[in-house]
Amino acid sequence: PLPAKLYGKRPNSTGIELGDRKALTDLLKGIAKARTAVTAVPLAARVKVSGKAQDVISPADGSVVGSVVFATADEAAKAVDVAREGFASWSRVPVETRAKTLEKAAELLEDNRHYLLDLLSREAGKTIDDGIAEIREAVDFCRYYAAEARRQFAVDKVMPGPTGEDNKLRHRGRGAFVCISPWNFPLAIFLGQVTAALAAGNTVLAKPAEQTPLIAFEAVKILHEAGVPKDAAIYLPGDGSVGAALTAHPGIAGVAFTGSTDTAWAINRSLAAKKGPIVPLIAETGGLNAMIVDATALSEQVADDVVMSAFRSAGQRCSALRILYLQEDIADNMLEMIEGAARELTLGDPSSPSTDVGPIIDEAQREMLTNHIATMRKTQKVRFAGEAPESGLFFAPHIVELDRPEALEREVFGPVLHVVRWKARDLDKVLDQIASTGYGLTFGLHTRIEATVTKVIDRLDIGNVYVNRNTIGAVVGTQPFGGSGLSGTGPKAGGPAYLARFALEQVVSVNT
Ligand code: NAD
Ligand code: ALA
Repeated sequence: PLPAKLYGKRPNSTGIELGDRKALTDLLKGIAKARTAVTAVPLAARVKVSGKAQDVISPADGSVVGSVVFATADEAAKAVDVAREGFASWSRVPVETRAKTLEKAAELLEDNRHYLLDLLSREAGKTIDDGIAEIREAVDFCRYYAAEARRQFAVDKVMPGPTGEDNKLRHRGRGAFVCISPWNFPLAIFLGQVTAALAAGNTVLAKPAEQTPLIAFEAVKILHEAGVPKDAAIYLPGDGSVGAALTAHPGIAGVAFTGSTDTAWAINRSLAAKKGPIVPLIAETGGLNAMIVDATALSEQVADDVVMSAFRSAGQRCSALRILYLQEDIADNMLEMIEGAARELTLGDPSSPSTDVGPIIDEAQREMLTNHIATMRKTQKVRFAGEAPESGLFFAPHIVELDRPEALEREVFGPVLHVVRWKARDLDKVLDQIASTGYGLTFGLHTRIEATVTKVIDRLDIGNVYVNRNTIGAVVGTQPFGGSGLSGTGPKAGGPAYLARFALEQVVSVNT
């Protein structure tokens, strides 16, 4: 394992010290040499798998990272039966044991961090900084939900009542919970959903994104090694059809979904159309995230924060900045600084510690971005186009100046920053425009005027608001994460209200 000083011993995902980068690079090279290809297969007891193995290709260099056998819709339905049977025993495991099991999983993640870092870089194109932050976030989720399960579920809550009657509120698992995750946080979001559902006493059908099945496979194996029974955490790789088969099944007890708004709508329709119990849907979706910068803002800080928010992780974060509102008095100067900072970014091999921006996840995403820029060239002003390496799935940072904010109608998931100028007297109009998009995930504000801060945060129904800093990298337990409206249902992941949504509340009133 990596020496502690390379990894840092911070309590949460931000500010992890990379320590000695040279030693880290040597270590990763050693891992690269020792690599063996992973084959991920559905991990569902008693379900016979029929599919053929297919290659998982690295977005970084097109190499084969491993292979995966996708589950079929029929196999997914059989796995629901297994998870329902598994519920009978996992739901009776004491809260303390469930919590300790998740803490053991956190330790195993840390022990295997170098291996996971390498896999995150190859399968998902994560840079070293992003990979380390992601592993730390996954570890934080395990520990945070373990602690929250103890705090909220271990002891029944005594409710006030009349003399001669005992009233207690208790929490228990709901049943077989479906967890469906995206490719952009293939370890942290995947494990965040799964560990929350397990902590609350559910069994889990865990469907990772089709682009990133291998890291999720390793994560579920770690859960099993930590002591989660095989019929309590079931790994089911597949594309959207497997997700659709799971959400349409009448035997499921709930769905935790993170991904696009369109898919959340499809799941909502599927849950509404099927027979069986009415079950909760926790959906965390996309954003059309804005940042307002006024003339009092500190320009160097703005440039840093904008570049970090828009281009880090190649803009492939739901929290990433999509539309920047610059007060017109400072706009030219600010844009020059932002473009200068964007020009300094190094794109390339994500496993190299000197890389700032790694690849785009797949060809479909690159095509979508290429088409978007082509449209913008026809109708708007593309001010800046960075340089991408010739080979590999890269897409360089772009900055597009819009003549009106409505020209950007939907989330463009990648390193494209859109900019709009505003006049000081029009702050209300800008706020109306941001609210009118219907999205409410992240928002940034750079100002030194206290009254502006109060006014803006009161006006916007946005889940995560960042003042005078960047808008990415929410920390578990510190910045519970999630939005409203088109951006999701809540409750926030990594926050105190999250676990309760996975649990069934039961009140027992005893006449003494
Ligand atoms: P996606 O919606 O295409 O896919 C997400 C998951 O849903 C995948 O596992 C996919 O196989 C599955 N799926 C697809 N169709 C389905 C269906 N009909 N029924 C059930 N499951 C189905 O999203 P993506 O491209 O993987 O991820 C990017 C999106 O995720 C962006 O919009 C981003 O903003 C969002 N996201 C949101 C958050 C958040 O916390 N709010 C975090 C990360 C990503
Ligand atoms: N939680 C992730 C972030 O804040 C999506 O960037």
